[in-house]
Amino acid sequence: MAASHTATILILLPLCIVGGQYTNRNAGLTEIPDDIPMNVTWIDLSHNLITTLGSNSFSNFADLTTLRLSNNSISIIHDDAFERVYKLRSLLLDDNQLEYFPNLRNMSALSDLNLNGNRIGIIPDDALDRLNLSRDNTFFYLRLSRNELEELPNVQGISFYTFYAYDNNLDLGESELEGVSVHFIDISKNKISDLSPILEMSLKNTLTVNNNPLGNLSSADLYNLVQSQPDLSYLCLDSCNLTTMPDIRMLKKEFYRTFRLSALNNPWVCDCRISWMGNTNFTTDYIAIEKYATFKCAAPSRHAGKLLHEIPLEDYCPGRFESIVSGSDAHFYAVQRRKWNVATLEQEREYKAALDRRLAPLMRKLDDETVSCLNLGCTIVQLMRMQLKVCVLK
Ligand SMILES: *[C@@H]1O[C@H](CO)[C@@H](O)[C@H](O)[C@H]1NC(C)=O
Ligand SMILES: *[C@@H]1O[C@H](CO)[C@@H](O)[C@H](O)[C@H]1NC(C)=O
Ligand SMILES: *[C@@H]1O[C@H](CO)[C@@H](O)[C@H](O)[C@H]1NC(C)=O
Ligand SMILES: *[C@@H]1O[C@H](CO)[C@@H](O)[C@H](O)[C@H]1NC(C)=O
Ligand SMILES: *[C@@H]1O[C@H](CO)[C@@H](O)[C@H](O)[C@H]1NC(C)=O
Ligand SMILES: *[C@@H]1O[C@H](CO)[C@@H](O)[C@H](O)[C@H]1NC(C)=O
Ligand SMILES: *[C@@H]1O[C@H](CO)[C@@H](O)[C@H](O)[C@H]1NC(C)=O
Repeated sequence: MAASHTATILILLPLCIVGGQYTNRNAGLTEIPDDIPMNVTWIDLSHNLITTLGSNSFSNFADLTTLRLSNNSISIIHDDAFERVYKLRSLLLDDNQLEYFPNLRNMSALSDLNLNGNRIGIIPDDALDRLNLSRDNTFFYLRLSRNELEELPNVQGISFYTFYAYDNNLDLGESELEGVSVHFIDISKNKISDLSPILEMSLKNTLTVNNNPLGNLSSADLYNLVQSQPDLSYLCLDSCNLTTMPDIRMLKKEFYRTFRLSALNNPWVCDCRISWMGNTNFTTDYIAIEKYATFKCAAPSRHAGKLLHEIPLEDYCPGRFESIVSGSDAHFYAVQRRKWNVATLEQEREYKAALDRRLAPLMRKLDDETVSCLNLGCTIVQLMRMQLKVCVLK
């Protein structure tokens, strides 16, 4: 009876075994079929109704490299389910009912693990260590989005191509991310209010942090983030309750690499600290601010509700910062660079410290509002401009 029932399904549904690939999707299967040839390299059982992966479910498939179990109802995975599938490279378990991170031991070849859309709350500290990933397998795709994680897993020593953990309850807290390298990381839609653990990482391309409560970040916090990541070329901070953004033009100019910033839908405080945005030229600054024309001011009250780009630059910080927004900045900067021969970040830091010392007595003469503005948004370029202004005043 059971056999003929199975046979009917096999005839009617798109079961397919080609070139070592076994595919049986959307077939209403409630368990792993027992007719899968042992020499397959690929098993796709997505979109079925499987609930459990028992002990040694896949141990007979010694050549298996890809296992797709997306969109089932899997809630239980036996600790030995993946025992001896040493060649597995891609394991897709997205959109199931998992509450626990599966026990994945000694799977050195694994490079793509997709657990999006489950209910995982905690990942044991040694979960990824147990994989025994080969050290030259540095392009790892890890997807943990749409779960219930409150903290990042321990990923020390792993180099990721993509690391997606959006739509969880993450707070970076005390995450240890030193030495972790990532090309594309997406931690949008979480509860992250502090990005400082990210400074320890090595970001190679894109950081996406949209929809997190970053309203308490200061200009200096954001400046330090960008400064810590010389290879970062795309930073997304949409809907993060940000009020300000420091002048990062000089940081990126250093390397003559283009940089894109997306910071849509934030309640900007339109003062001198963000005046640089309106003065940014992609050709000369290598920075593109996406949809800048949509940026709206939430404060101060005289600018609330206005579009940032419609406010004349001199109105951001009336009577104070004419020289900050003057067109001669780039020229001035180029001259200073040549003069001090600033070449590396290290030298730049030394140079900045020297400049700070030189400026200190002058700063004391400035009024409080200007100084607090500088302290919040302090960048080397602003200091230089400040010096220019002070020189002009003298
Ligand atoms: C797998 O084994 C079956 C017999 O069990 C054989 O017919 C088939 O050619 C084999 N496929 C591969 C890709 O080795
Ligand atoms: C897979 O499951 C998710 C979550 O249950 C659902 O939103 C999605 O539509 C499913 N995908 C398909 C192709 O059925
Ligand atoms: C880790 O992987 C290497 C290489 O595949 C293997 O030789 C070693 O036995 C594995 N270690 C453990 C603890 O399984
Ligand atoms: C770990 O996997 C390797 C193959 O990659 C295998 O040779 C070794 O026996 C496994 N170690 C254990 C402890 O299972
Ligand atoms: C946004 O930041 C303001 C203070 O700058 C704070 O009062 C408000 O609660 C924040 N909103 C959210 C959603 O975090
Ligand atoms: C922002 O800082 C205030 C005051 O320190 C604090 O009460 C609030 O919880 C912080 N908000 C976030 C999202 O961290
Ligand atoms: C940007 O700078 C280039 C080179 O100096 C200049 O040709 C161009 O007109 C500037 N663009 C804008 C929008 O000011």
